[in-house]
Amino acid sequence: MEKAIRSPVIAVVGHVDHGKTTLLDRLRGTATAKNEPGLITQTIGATKIPVDVVKSICGNLLEKMNINLTIPGLLFIDTPGHEAFTTLRKRGGAIADLAILVIDSNEGFKPQTEESLNYLKQFKTPFVVAATKIDRILGWNPQNDQPFFKTFHEQTQRTQDELETKIYQLIAQLGVKGFEAERVDRISDFAKQIAVVPMSGHTGEGFPELLMILSGLAQKYLNKNLEITTDEGKGSVLEVKEFRGLGTTLDVILYDGEIKKGDTIVIGGKKIVKTKVKALLEPEPMKELKSSNFIQIDSITAAAGIKIAASEIEDVIPGSPLRAVRNESDVEKAVKEVVSEVEEVEIDTDENGSILKADTLGGLEALIKSLQDRNIPIRKASVGNLTKKEIIEAQSFDDPIIMVFGSTVSQETIQLAKDHGVSLFTSNIIYSLIENYEKWKEDENKRREEREMKTLVRPGRVRVLPGYIFRASKPAVFGVEVLKGTIKSGCRLHRDGKIIGEVKEVQMEGKNVEEASMGDKIAISLPDGCIGKNCDENDTLDVFLTQENISKLRKFSAKLKSDERELLEEID
Ligand code: GTP
Ligand code: MG
Repeated sequence: MEKAIRSPVIAVVGHVDHGKTTLLDRLRGTATAKNEPGLITQTIGATKIPVDVVKSICGNLLEKMNINLTIPGLLFIDTPGHEAFTTLRKRGGAIADLAILVIDSNEGFKPQTEESLNYLKQFKTPFVVAATKIDRILGWNPQNDQPFFKTFHEQTQRTQDELETKIYQLIAQLGVKGFEAERVDRISDFAKQIAVVPMSGHTGEGFPELLMILSGLAQKYLNKNLEITTDEGKGSVLEVKEFRGLGTTLDVILYDGEIKKGDTIVIGGKKIVKTKVKALLEPEPMKELKSSNFIQIDSITAAAGIKIAASEIEDVIPGSPLRAVRNESDVEKAVKEVVSEVEEVEIDTDENGSILKADTLGGLEALIKSLQDRNIPIRKASVGNLTKKEIIEAQSFDDPIIMVFGSTVSQETIQLAKDHGVSLFTSNIIYSLIENYEKWKEDENKRREEREMKTLVRPGRVRVLPGYIFRASKPAVFGVEVLKGTIKSGCRLHRDGKIIGEVKEVQMEGKNVEEASMGDKIAISLPDGCIGKNCDENDTLDVFLTQENISKLRKFSAKLKSDERELLEEID
């Protein structure tokens, strides 16, 4: 029997405000973006676009490209920041079969663009670039819902040139990142080149090409992967939240198999949850998972965004793997599977490492991997919010560092970390976390060096000035000229290896000073010195340096004054 084909899961990723939600809104023909607080995507939504809608948007482009659609539709997932890759995970990679990397054509690459590309590379996810907001280009003459190749010819030469410049900047930046890309209407080899589709979420221009490319990628490269391989439902938990009349519910992306009302579901995490599906809900057709219009259903096959009501799911962590089974005899296997997925998060702990926190298992795993790749040591890693106990624990480390990825940290916690001298790094972007950490580490190393430099005895040479012996002994007080280097109180002076005594005070023009440099004429006091016995007028005396001190000075030699360096070079 021929296996059923599921819809591919398509993650919409990219930098904040570059137009991800607007793009999906236009697809749905709704305007949920307008209702979002601050226009920031707060939750993950899944939108299913049935194949008929895909066909009608593409028009004759599918035939032109010889694409015969056998998939039932496309399941789009709108994600804030990193979540497409960190929450939507399964064993060995991302759940998303394909991705749309959204880049504002007027702004170009931004940190989350880079981050998304890193993930796409890591997971080898085929993707298309949506170069959005072309309607903002100077002089743009909009042609609603038209393919890009048509609307482009309706623009003046100047506007066309403007667009060309922006798109080729993107293509060049993609090239730097190791991706060969080309404007969609100029692609010669779809297997090699990544399509950049200039488009607008406001006017619908470019959508035919976007859906055509996605359909083409799905049909050509994913066909086998889109076969439904099992009856058992396989999914990933996106969110755990209260829902009116149903209590706690799970928003889940089902990426393989089937799930039915009454199934036993097994969910991985700190603690394995086994419970039964009380109710199964699907968003109304063409709506998305986060909208509140749901219909109750008895069963559903992948790929789908669904809501599940069940008991004992309050402590489930987003990003946890989920299995749905019908027979009691399959439960044990499902438990083994989710346990092995969760166990993938493993670290070699290092005494000198940092504490890591993330909001999801996938997030933690991604962070651990990125730090390990850069040899940044880790002491402990866990999912959840940062606690006071952890801050206090970090305080006792040599390097008190905590990195928080994804979860928000309260002002109070930030203050607490500050009060305890703990360096706290927080971000929704792994590479910002690492960048900030590395910058801090560099500064910290500099601060350490400076502290160490301060404790070192510096090279110095003086000549005892004739006629300036104020006291011969106990203590000896006399005038000297600093010939080279630095004289500080506490240093010991020697002549030809014989210690004369320790400098107790350094005075310049009658005042005590910290140190004196080349050319200064100063008075020094040596409690153990004795003029006429172990030194005399016109003698040249050197600061005594231990071997350890010498080697440290050599390490910091770039920081020494040139006359200090000269003295150091005389010592072999
Ligand atoms: P986050 O969810 O916060 O990461 O942002 P997003 O990528 O979902 O961006 P969103 O769709 O919310 O768009 C951000 C802003 O850009 C909104 O004001 C949109 O109206 C505007 N915008 C998005 N796409 C387009 C477009 O194609 N043309 C124009 N002119 N504006 C757009
Ligand atoms: Mg959004």
